[in-house]
Amino acid sequence: MTNSNRQWLINGRPVGRPLADDDFKFVETPVVEPNDGEVLVRNLYLAFDPALKGHMENISNYVAPTQIGEVMRGSGIGEVVASKAPGFAIGDKVMGGLRWQTYATVSAKELLKVVDDELLTANLGVLGTTGMTALFGLFKIGKPFVGDTMVVTGAAGATGSVVGQLGKIAGCRVIGVAGGAEKCAWLVEELGFDAAVDYKAGDLQAQVKAAAPEGIDVLWDNVGGRVFNDVLGEIAMHARVVTCGNISRHEPGMTPSGPANYFNLIFKRARMEGFIVSDWVDEFPWARARLARFIREGRLHYKEDIQQGIENAPSTLKRLFEGRNFGKQLLKL
Ligand SMILES: NC(=O)c1ccc[n+]([C@@H]2O[C@H](COP(=O)([O-])OP(=O)(O)OC[C@H]3O[C@@H](n4cnc5c(N)ncnc54)[C@H](OP(=O)(O)O)[C@@H]3O)[C@@H](O)[C@H]2O)c1
Repeated sequence: MTNSNRQWLINGRPVGRPLADDDFKFVETPVVEPNDGEVLVRNLYLAFDPALKGHMENISNYVAPTQIGEVMRGSGIGEVVASKAPGFAIGDKVMGGLRWQTYATVSAKELLKVVDDELLTANLGVLGTTGMTALFGLFKIGKPFVGDTMVVTGAAGATGSVVGQLGKIAGCRVIGVAGGAEKCAWLVEELGFDAAVDYKAGDLQAQVKAAAPEGIDVLWDNVGGRVFNDVLGEIAMHARVVTCGNISRHEPGMTPSGPANYFNLIFKRARMEGFIVSDWVDEFPWARARLARFIREGRLHYKEDIQQGIENAPSTLKRLFEGRNFGKQLLKL
């Protein structure tokens, strides 16, 4: 077995600016053998989420602050290569906060065993935090009702694509907002969205108005900024606006100021509410089983965008903010 661990350390605070190369530092360190209760994991896949940049900025007050010099946080799937923990054997596949490195020495309490089947990597996306975000955010906050018109921003992304399909399962008319014709075509032709509009193709509010002439009952927002503001202008009476994320705040020159159309919440007696998915962590097991069933029944589809090589971890994270990922962003080590 190798005794070298390749790691990416946090080396900068990308506050108010895009990620830069020197926000990360690549090092090689000796692999740390496990103590009692720990396992040594060879990392196989890492998952990427816009929140990772927020953790580097130290603005995510729902997780412990990050330190300059710590191994970059991130969840992943790996294979146990040494174990001093009961119940974990060499060869087991496990998931957890394995961080940006080729080997992780972690407490077994922080790991979840996963089945090595065709849904292995789905545990990092549609069956992981991504799917949980979509399911709980939509049904606990968005409260879709059969026949509602639903609009999802960031619709071709990992979270948005699941939200939209769950909206269809709930009996809604679902319209996706995404960047580019290819992503919009995928939403309609492969995922069964009723319509998709390209926010990069001109007057977004007019496009949304044409697609949802009676207004939006459930607005799921992943992106904030100009896109959110345009869509917010088209909500219906008593709309539920689910504030899931604000990825546009990372755009150069884009401040996370309130949307100019916020007063529409008053006119339309609407409700806008944010959430953090970990609030429902106790319910994840049944939710995971339900989403897996939807996948196996062919009612829920997902796409993965798998980049290669630990050396490409920083550039893989950047893809999310450039709209270059098509599906759940993963990295195979
Ligand atoms: N509240 C929670 O608990 C929770 C949990 C997980 C994730 N989230 C949030 O959910 C959102 C989606 O996360 P994800 O992991 O599923 O990522 P993702 O949607 O797979 O990837 C990000 C996508 O955002 C779009 N985007 C990037 N910059 C944009 C901009 N300036 N304006 C409009 N769209 C832009 C891009 O798609 P286009 O090509 O279409 O532009 C990109 O592909 C994020 O905001 C994330 O922070 C929240």
